[in-house]
Amino acid sequence: MKESKYRGVYTDGRNYYTRSNSGKSIYGEKVIKISDKYYHLWNPFRSKLAATMKLNIKTFPFKNSKVLYLGASTGTTVSHLADVSKLIWAVEISPISMKSLLNLAEEKDNIIPILDDARNVRNLSLFVRKPDIIYQDVSQRDQVSIFVNNMEYFSPHYGFLMLKTRTIDMRKKPKSILQNTISKLKENGYKIIEVLNISKFQKDHFAIVVKK
Ligand SMILES: C[S@@+](CC[C@H](N)C(=O)[O-])C[C@H]1O[C@@H](n2cnc3c(N)ncnc32)[C@H](O)[C@@H]1O
Repeated sequence: MKESKYRGVYTDGRNYYTRSNSGKSIYGEKVIKISDKYYHLWNPFRSKLAATMKLNIKTFPFKNSKVLYLGASTGTTVSHLADVSKLIWAVEISPISMKSLLNLAEEKDNIIPILDDARNVRNLSLFVRKPDIIYQDVSQRDQVSIFVNNMEYFSPHYGFLMLKTRTIDMRKKPKSILQNTISKLKENGYKIIEVLNISKFQKDHFAIVVKK
């Protein structure tokens, strides 16, 4: 096991792992113990961020960063990011998912769970201070507006949008929704740093990385 080209992430030459002091598997992922450290397999079929690494994403600024994570769910991706980043504000609208997220936050001391709608940017600002990165993965029709509103309010260095095209419009082609999204982001003054088609791992999804 050695550190990969993604800072804070490890590889056995085949898969990616994050390193933690705890050997407890969070979502059923394989855990390997090597001299007092535990390496948690980061599954690209369960986490879109792991999918982007499998697809050779170039931008990976998460090491020691402060992340505002919108759409945390039960904490699959958050559990890995917590091993890499300094602090994560994990926002989730579903009280059921929040239960698991609270358990995870007891395991890892750098996760601040927030039960709220990611649309309520002012509420979030009561807890969130100067995130370096916004990572969003919410399956909502207005997911692009939610992303832009949070980006505008918090002005992080980077934004990662996991775009679920089918939730925006089932009848339109995923590529046409991607083009509309890119136009909207550009209209709002964002530079598109990277776009990855992650459909191989998550059907009809794209990962978009932006900067102001
Ligand atoms: C695809 S899942 C996220 C999976 C997670 N990002 C991961 O990789 O582990 C989408 C999540 O977004 C949450 N969600 C949907 N709309 C939301 C909103 N307006 N505000 C906050 N969370 C929302 C859903 O409850 C769901 O848990």
